[in-house]
Amino acid sequence: MLSIQNLNQYYGQSHTLWDLAFDVPANSCTCILGRNGVGKTSLMQSIMGLAPKVTGSVLFNGENLVEMAAEKRAPKGIAYIPQGRQIFAQLTVEENIRTGFFASRASHRRVPDEIYQLFPVLEEMKGRRGGDLSGGQQQQLAIARALVLDPTLILMDEPAEGIQPTIVQEIGDVIQRLTRERNITVLLVEQKLPFARRVGTDFVVLDRGRLQASGEMHELSDELVQQHLNV
Ligand SMILES: Nc1ncnc2c1ncn2[C@@H]1O[C@H](COP(=O)(O)OP(=O)(O)OP(=O)(O)O)[C@@H](O)[C@H]1O
Ligand SMILES: [Mg+2]
Repeated sequence: MLSIQNLNQYYGQSHTLWDLAFDVPANSCTCILGRNGVGKTSLMQSIMGLAPKVTGSVLFNGENLVEMAAEKRAPKGIAYIPQGRQIFAQLTVEENIRTGFFASRASHRRVPDEIYQLFPVLEEMKGRRGGDLSGGQQQQLAIARALVLDPTLILMDEPAEGIQPTIVQEIGDVIQRLTRERNITVLLVEQKLPFARRVGTDFVVLDRGRLQASGEMHELSDELVQQHLNV
């Protein structure tokens, strides 16, 4: 589905990602694990074309995204939910969801019912302003907005950050439904290990911009966790 090969990324003179290589299997939830500042967000932005200088290849269904303009990538079926969610505080919930259509392949502009079925709270709050929602509701809104793209791959950057535990649980359930019921592949940045272990099927560990290990989630050893993650 997604294959990263020899990926390097730079901010000016500073070399952030070093020779990354890993695959994201179709229908997996692959978790990018690593401490603060190791390059997780830079990796997501490199995939989306939002990082300044990237070399190597990011093959998505065989096409190299690195050679493609950023605005051509989302219409290929890749949705990106950035760290901090970035919903529009002044727009209503429904208007926020509809902004997802800007990058969409869909010809219709109606919010599909199934999105509200997945997130009933958003239907109840359709007319409220995005800024009035709780952190957990805003995260659900960010996922809903990504879904109108009808993506086959969703990149999520720390969706559980700053959200109360019961809602984290619900967001985990939604991620599992996306991969199991809707054939969506998820590439998830996550620092909370219990959450990653629950929803993730595969993992990639980054440390200081380099790949330290990757594999299936059940292969993630305590030794790796102690060496490269906060426990
Ligand atoms: N726009 C930028 N310009 C210059 N350096 C940057 C920029 N964005 C990030 N960096 C640097 O690149 C490195 C990786 O940052 P990045 O945000 O990718 O890490 P992260 O793993 O997502 O961190 P966090 O867990 O805190 O979100 C850090 O050293 C950071 O200071
Ligand atoms: Mg980050």
